[in-house]
Amino acid sequence: PKESEDNLRSPICCIMGHVDTGKTKLLDCIRGTNVQGGEAGGITQQIGATYFPAENIRERTKELKADVKLKVPGLLVIDTPGHESFTNLRSRGSGLCDIAVLVVDIMHGLEPQTIESLNLLKMRNTKFIVALNKVDRLYGWKTCHNAPIEKAMKQQSRDVKKQFETQLVQIITQFKEQGLNTELNNMDKEMRETYRIVPTSAISGEGIPDLLLVLTKLTEKTMVENLTYRNEVQCTVLEVKVIEGLGTTIDVVLVNGVLHEGDQIVVCGIQGPIVTSIRALLTPHPMNELRVKGTYQNHRAIKGAQGIKITASGLEHAIAGAALYVVGPHDDLEEVKETAMGD
Ligand code: GTP
Ligand code: MG
Ligand code: NA
Repeated sequence: PKESEDNLRSPICCIMGHVDTGKTKLLDCIRGTNVQGGEAGGITQQIGATYFPAENIRERTKELKADVKLKVPGLLVIDTPGHESFTNLRSRGSGLCDIAVLVVDIMHGLEPQTIESLNLLKMRNTKFIVALNKVDRLYGWKTCHNAPIEKAMKQQSRDVKKQFETQLVQIITQFKEQGLNTELNNMDKEMRETYRIVPTSAISGEGIPDLLLVLTKLTEKTMVENLTYRNEVQCTVLEVKVIEGLGTTIDVVLVNGVLHEGDQIVVCGIQGPIVTSIRALLTPHPMNELRVKGTYQNHRAIKGAQGIKITASGLEHAIAGAALYVVGPHDDLEEVKETAMGD
């Protein structure tokens, strides 16, 4: 169906897993940022969003010489916290995504929040890949900066390869115990009904090209059914925060539809529905994290999928996790308010 392939939105990809498995660091490695270094205690405490344009992904997978064309504009990646106290944020993130990356520490295997994340993904039937992170922690690992994993593996001693095999076999067994068939990713093989494991290092970048390529392939697979752009606004509030100079703002993920400056919106609030109009639509620059304070790009209108900071008056009591509604010219405001409070 050619027509729908020309009208695809960016898929939303959620990064999930146990605390400190390297979720934020993996994104830092791809972005060329140091968001993790700025986090209090090195712990993620909010949901983040980063837009990766397709050309950046293509660039990072070049070395694999794969013949895949990314037909979507880019990838909107949602970072979630792994700490046990943030189950609600993991649930919010996984509820929004089309595909996911489940990050597992190769030295630790499956941990409590790995399993919790896995269950959230299973519940919603979300396809995901496993990033088996921290391969550089294998004793004697030889660094091969940003190399495809096969190339990096070839450089390793027999002992490192043996450690890797041992960990991999154990982790595949742990997934089996959770009712899941996983296998080591092989670029030459067709995607079967198993979940792919991609070994990575967020510190030295081995396996990052593979991770991005497998994500691209997974995107293509899930594409036409789920990613056809729709005009109807579908938007969720991720975070409510006060930003110096901007007042109370909301970070949202716009999945489908277009938001405009001046649009009248309704969001669920603690003390009832909040009716206001969009003062400004802001995004960080591509490859930058929405939750990190920085310089913003100002937009007259933005099409989904995108992570956006909205400024408007009266947002102080907005509730994170709620849907955002736009009041169209033919909509009845009272009805929209009722819908917003009904969520
Ligand atoms: P939460 O968001 O708090 O759940 O943690 P996270 O999964 O985002 O992990 P984070 O990126 O905060 O990394 C945790 C720690 O592991 C940091 O000290 C990172 O430097 C380290 N780390 C992450 N990835 C790697 C890796 O591939 N190799 C090594 N050696 N260390 C890593
Ligand atoms: Mg993190
Ligand atoms: Na952390």
